[in-house]
Amino acid sequence: MREAIGQVLLSADRIAARVHELGEQISSDLKAIADDAEIVIVPILTGSIVFVADLIRQIPLKVRIDVVTVSSYPRAAKESVGAQIVGTLPADLAGKHVLIVDDILDSGGTIKLIREAICDRGAASVRFCVLLRKTIPSALETPCEYVGFDIPDEFVVGYGLDYDNYYRNLPDVAMLREDEA
Ligand code: IMP
Ligand code: MG
Repeated sequence: MREAIGQVLLSADRIAARVHELGEQISSDLKAIADDAEIVIVPILTGSIVFVADLIRQIPLKVRIDVVTVSSYPRAAKESVGAQIVGTLPADLAGKHVLIVDDILDSGGTIKLIREAICDRGAASVRFCVLLRKTIPSALETPCEYVGFDIPDEFVVGYGLDYDNYYRNLPDVAMLREDEA
């Protein structure tokens, strides 16, 4: 796998330190809502799996976890074709405080789609947390409550992010070598 990987943008250690900070900030914000607030964390599959596994262990609150699957890329593509919900949204979100977790904010299509869908379910509040945000207008203009890192407009893999469903298990976030993509 390593031979396909180009420049490392974020090392596993750097990611871990930032995830710890995000967890502290999110916990303190959620605690401030009310002690008995019902909190649901909604990871967006598949890209958020590694991030959310680390993040939830930095949030020492009583929370439910309920996943949603969004698909935006055809098999081996680097351009999104528009986000679509695959299957169903978590049920029973009315009155709940919802934290949605995704790997990366790019066009903003995923956030827009999911925020609207979850607001329509009558959630009491909706917050978004992404590990990465590309520094392009579409991403920077999309409201997002928690952002781990701003990165250049490059296609990245690792720490859950894939190319053609590979490289999710790389511990760092890295660019692919040009000849691999
Ligand atoms: P958006 O809907 O365009 O904001 O894109 C969000 C989704 O596209 C993310 O959840 C990722 O699954 C995928 N994505 C966007 N950029 C990248 C990238 O650089 N590497 C891998 N996946 C990406
Ligand atoms: Mg994704």
